[in-house]
Amino acid sequence: MAELELETPPRGGVEPLARTDVEDLLTEARERTLWLVEPVSEADLDRVHSPLMSPLAWDLAHIAAFEELWICTRAGGLDPIRAELFHTYDALETPRAVRGEVQHLDAPAAREYLASVRERSLAVLDEADLGRNGFVFEMVIQHEHQHNETMLQTLALAEPGVFSPPVRHPVGGRDGEPTGAEMIRIDAGPFLAGAPPGRFTYDNERPQHEVELPAFEIDRLPVTCGEYMEFVEAGGYRRRLSWSEEGWAWRVAAGVERPLYWTEECELRRFGRTQRLAPDLPVMHVSWYEADAYARWRGKRLPTELEWEKAASWTPDAVRPRRRPWGDDPATRRRANLDQMSFGPVPTGSLPGGASGYGVHGLIGDAWEWTSSEFGGYPGFEPHPYREYSEVFFDSGYMVLRGASWATRPSVARNTFRNWDLPQRRQIFCGFRCAA
Ligand code: AVJ
Ligand code: FE
Repeated sequence: MAELELETPPRGGVEPLARTDVEDLLTEARERTLWLVEPVSEADLDRVHSPLMSPLAWDLAHIAAFEELWICTRAGGLDPIRAELFHTYDALETPRAVRGEVQHLDAPAAREYLASVRERSLAVLDEADLGRNGFVFEMVIQHEHQHNETMLQTLALAEPGVFSPPVRHPVGGRDGEPTGAEMIRIDAGPFLAGAPPGRFTYDNERPQHEVELPAFEIDRLPVTCGEYMEFVEAGGYRRRLSWSEEGWAWRVAAGVERPLYWTEECELRRFGRTQRLAPDLPVMHVSWYEADAYARWRGKRLPTELEWEKAASWTPDAVRPRRRPWGDDPATRRRANLDQMSFGPVPTGSLPGGASGYGVHGLIGDAWEWTSSEFGGYPGFEPHPYREYSEVFFDSGYMVLRGASWATRPSVARNTFRNWDLPQRRQIFCGFRCAA
C-alpha cells in the first residue's frame, strides 16, 4: 500500500527541492529540536507535564519513528531498525492520553534513535530520485517542524523552571498606533481556495478549488489583550447570553474565568515568568468557546476558514492566490513574527509589511486564529500520502485554526495551512479576530 502511494505525487504536483537543500533543511530542523530540549533535565523530558501533551521524550522518538517510516522504509526500501517502535510512536495507535504509561524510549535512547535514523535517511537521500518522491522528505521536515511547536506547547504548560528561555521582545509598545478602519470589507466574489501546485502541502489543503463568498467584513487586527480585558471586566464570563449552550456548559464545568496563563491579578505567565499584561498584544490561549463568546458580545462572529483564507490570499483583482498574505516572497521573518526566539507575540499591527492585499494585518505569525469552521475535507478530498494525518479528524467536532503563531516554523506558515483542535483546548498558541 505505502509503496504504491509514493508512486503518485500529491495532486497538482510538487516541485522537487535540490538534494543539498533537503539535507540543509533536515539538519536545521534537527538542530532546533535538540536545542529545545537541551536545557530540559532528563527527568522533565520523561515526565507528563499535562494530560493533554506527550512526554517530550515521546515527541523525540516519534519524530525519529516518523522519519524512519517514511524516508528509510517507504521511500528507501530499508528494513526498520526497530519495527516495534512504529506502533508505540504511531499517533493514533498510541494517543496522547496514554503516552505517559506505555513503555517508551527514555530521553537518551530517543536521542540515539534520532541519530541512527538520521544517518540512514541521509544515505537514502544520496540515492533518492527526488523528482519522484522528494515530497516525502519535505513532509518529514514539516512534520519535525510541527512537533517543535507541540513541544513548545508542552514546555509552556510545564512548571516554572523546566524551561526558561530568554524573551527577546520587550512586552508592549507599538511603533506608533496602527491606524485605519477597524474592519475591512471584502466584496462578494469568487477566489481560489486551497494549495496550488509547488511546494509540499498536506492533503487537507487540496484540491485547490474555486469558492464564491458573499461580502463580509473582517477585523483588520487580531483581538488584543486590552480589548479582551473589556470583555472580562464587563462580566463576560458571567453573562450567559454571550455564550453558546455548549460553550456555557464548558465554561461552568471547567470554572474558566479568564484566558489560560492570565493570573487572577491579570498578569501574564509565560514559560514560568510572570509579567504585566500588555494591552496591545494579541490575546492568546483562549478556547474556541471563549473566542465565540467574545465575538457575540461585540455583536460580531468568528470568520469562516474560507473568509480567513480569502482575506489572506486574495486581492480585489487577483488572478491567483498569494502563498502568504504579503505575497510570494519567502522572506518571512521581517513581515511576520515567526521568530522562534521571541517566545511570544509582538503588539498587533507592528509589522505593517505583513498586511494582506486587502490590508488585513497579522494573519500569519504571532497567534493562530480560531475560525467558525469545523474541520472537514474539501470537495474531492483524497487522503495522500499520510492517510492518518487529516481524514480521521474530519467531521468530528475539531475546529479549524488558520495562520501561524510565533512558534510555527516558516515551512508550515502559509495561507492554505489548516490546523485543528477541539473547541475547549487552550494550550495552542492561538488567538482570534472577528468578522461580521
Ligand atoms: C495539525 C497540529 C493538529 O499535532 O495532531 C503532527 C500535527 N500530526 N503529527 C497534531 C501532527 C501528526 C497535528 N496538528
Ligand atoms: Fe506527529
